[in-house]
Amino acid sequence: MSKKIRVAIVGLGFGAEFIPIYQKHKDAEMAAICQRNAEKMNAVGDAFGIKKRYTDFEELLKDPDIDAVHINTPIQEHAWQSIKALKAGKHVACTVPMATSVEECRQIVEAVKESGKTYMMMETVVYSREFLFVKEMAEKGELGKIQFLRASHQQEMAGWPGYWEGLPPMHYATHCVGPVLALAKSDAEYVSCFGSGRIDDNLISKYGSPFAIESCHIKIKDSDLSAEVTRSLFNTARQYRESFDVYGSKKSFEWTLIEHEPSVIHTGEVPSRVTVPDYAHLLPEEIQAFTTGGVYDADSNQHLSFIQGSGHGGSHPHLVNEFLSALRDNREPYPNAKQSANITCVGILAHESAMQGGKLIPLPEFTLSNQVK
Ligand SMILES: NC(=O)c1ccc[n+]([C@@H]2O[C@H](COP(=O)([O-])OP(=O)(O)OC[C@H]3O[C@@H](n4cnc5c(N)ncnc54)[C@H](O)[C@@H]3O)[C@@H](O)[C@H]2O)c1
Repeated sequence: MSKKIRVAIVGLGFGAEFIPIYQKHKDAEMAAICQRNAEKMNAVGDAFGIKKRYTDFEELLKDPDIDAVHINTPIQEHAWQSIKALKAGKHVACTVPMATSVEECRQIVEAVKESGKTYMMMETVVYSREFLFVKEMAEKGELGKIQFLRASHQQEMAGWPGYWEGLPPMHYATHCVGPVLALAKSDAEYVSCFGSGRIDDNLISKYGSPFAIESCHIKIKDSDLSAEVTRSLFNTARQYRESFDVYGSKKSFEWTLIEHEPSVIHTGEVPSRVTVPDYAHLLPEEIQAFTTGGVYDADSNQHLSFIQGSGHGGSHPHLVNEFLSALRDNREPYPNAKQSANITCVGILAHESAMQGGKLIPLPEFTLSNQVK
């Protein structure tokens, strides 16, 4: 694809973080924005100089001068918007998770197949500098044989928009499932998850999910590996943490326990603290600055998730570049629709497993990509 890809961003809370990256990327035209509240949308449009604005998603989809939509709306909107956009002939980048049910994931995979369009789930952790660092160590053979993977995402969601209240922890698990599957370079085959503890009664009623913490074991397909992931959203005392650990036969990587402190590499039994380098050099020059800086000048204007998540490990420009370069080079992005479905369905099925006392549940066939990055 030689001409610029004309992108519309839908949802302008977290979504606004991506506007200047598309504006700078040489393969993109930041063509339009969309959100329901016109007043807030106009403030963003004026701030970034974007003329085309839509308050109605379906009107946006009728615009023939839009090639791709990047969806950043609340979780419950992701699936229907992705399906409608694909059916309208648009490429789709969508923030996590892909959907809230296995059936919705299946429909998105189907819509990609039928439309021939590209879908990518914009999972931040698999483009964070920590992930790129450990992946590089693994590919150079420094870890030896990978023996086990573990990840956690613990975040207190009190005070966030109402749709978060009482959400089953594993329904938003991609930040910990993503890195363990991506490092294992495979799909999840089956899961077993235990729920633990209890959240406040007024939170439980919304989704019927009582657990404070859900902890899931994942069997990695066609591999001797398994992984464990832990999630909490409410009533659990802990600093924000999005982490992964990788245990190898020669070296292991363990994420820092306290944000902004160095992580640890164990060589045999000898630990050493490590400052993880930045990976901006993997990006086109014009967007390299975005791995270390937010998109606004005033620190106070950053999206809360960006501040709590330490800038999401510098992942935003990598995500934009992966989506655009996949379109330009006519290749699959990582994670593509099947891989995104596999990552997302681990969480959905893990919660089902927890509700049934830890029952072993297989991932559905349509999520098995047998293809790795
Ligand atoms: N690290 C990450 O990957 C990360 C971090 C933060 C948020 N997120 C994801 O981003 C999404 C948005 O998060 P947020 O905190 O900005 O949420 P939010 O609720 O604050 O904002 C959502 C935005 O979507 C718009 N919107 C809602 N329904 C719409 C519709 N039908 N059509 C068009 N616009 C619509 C709203 O006007 C608003 O601008 C969530 O799904 C969240 O999971 C991901």
